[in-house]
Amino acid sequence: METPSHHPAPVRIGIIGGGLMGREAASAFARWFALVDFPVKAELVAVCDVQPEVLGWFRQVPTVRCLTADHRELLARADVDVVYVAVPHHLHETIYLDVLRAGKDLLAEKPFGVDLAAARRIRDEAVKLGRFVRVSSEFPFLPGAQRLQRLAAAGAFGRILEIRAGFLHSSDLDPTKPANWKRQNRFCGEVGVMGDLGLHVAHLPLRLGWRPATVYAQLQKIYTQRPDGRGGQTECDTWDNAALHTTVMLGDDRVPMTLEMKRLAPTETNTWYIEILGTDRGARYSTKEPKTFWSYRRDKEQWWEKTDLGFAMPFKTITGGIFEPGFPDLMQQMWAAFLAERAGKLGDAFGCATPDEAVASHEWWSAALESQRNQSVVVPA
Ligand SMILES: NC(=O)c1ccc[n+]([C@@H]2O[C@H](COP(=O)([O-])OP(=O)(O)OC[C@H]3O[C@@H](n4cnc5c(N)ncnc54)[C@H](O)[C@@H]3O)[C@@H](O)[C@H]2O)c1
Repeated sequence: METPSHHPAPVRIGIIGGGLMGREAASAFARWFALVDFPVKAELVAVCDVQPEVLGWFRQVPTVRCLTADHRELLARADVDVVYVAVPHHLHETIYLDVLRAGKDLLAEKPFGVDLAAARRIRDEAVKLGRFVRVSSEFPFLPGAQRLQRLAAAGAFGRILEIRAGFLHSSDLDPTKPANWKRQNRFCGEVGVMGDLGLHVAHLPLRLGWRPATVYAQLQKIYTQRPDGRGGQTECDTWDNAALHTTVMLGDDRVPMTLEMKRLAPTETNTWYIEILGTDRGARYSTKEPKTFWSYRRDKEQWWEKTDLGFAMPFKTITGGIFEPGFPDLMQQMWAAFLAERAGKLGDAFGCATPDEAVASHEWWSAALESQRNQSVVVPA
């Protein structure tokens, strides 16, 4: 019988916050063997959540040896190397700082603190303590997003005419949908939908060095009351929809960059898109067509050309090249990028969002809040 000759010791992972995203992370580790020739092994060993029924779900994960309601108990364990934290935004700062001070590396959830000041404090502590920290943003790992990023980084578009990026949801169009913490400023943060969806939209522009010199924002609160899930109504005071009209300086060109983050966007279930138009070439990618990459080339006439990219993920997996990528694949790719970079093995592959990028995105959202307040054009910090 053949026995595997070499098993690198797995990176041992703890999750704090086992809700929607905590479970997605667990699922990514559970099929880690789908990655081909990947240099780092990952194993989920400990989970913390304050809800017993949420913790109970993780009993089915055979590698988990600690289930606790107290995140300090998880952080005190010597057998945890890396911690993923996916909790409501008002808890980010306290728990992220506890992770860093416990000597663990961190994959943080966005928006990386409830506001700009919190984001800066977390970033500064990570730098001071020398921890490896990255922030969750998985959509740039899609094949179409990767292709677009490479073309933009190589300057293939010529002079950029305009940039549009967005992330759109529609489920809040139903006024009977009960409120949760994401609808209330005290848990979600005053930035509202920009905190929820914004880093997803900002990640690629940030990586390409496209930072707004000015921001003009149109923010909307649409339903200000929702069912509380217990037979009553409750206040919902977060911004639901945000459109940011920004100007990016590219050389001497003042380029319009429009960023949309919306919870009430009819027909859109989880639509992440980016479009760049340049004088020589353009590209368009949306999760509405997850395999498909659109590009135009300037000739006597211009034509939009459509290519199916299939499963061209940055980190190779067992999945056939013609198959379709989906959300769980992105989560695993993002984790692969995090663990490869942590091990110094990322090479020239695309890396996860950095604390500096998360802080910069918060600067944009702060500018948007000020723009909305004063109905003015604002220069971000
Ligand atoms: N990357 C993405 O695509 C994506 C998608 C959704 C949410 N998020 C982010 O993930 C984070 C969590 O969002 P979610 O949708 O998973 O929320 P969720 O409400 O589904 O889960 C949050 C969990 O945190 C637990 N929790 C609350 N306080 C805790 C504490 N003190 N200690 C331990 N656990 C605690 C809750 O019981 C709950 O199970 C947020 O930062 C959110 O912005 C990211």
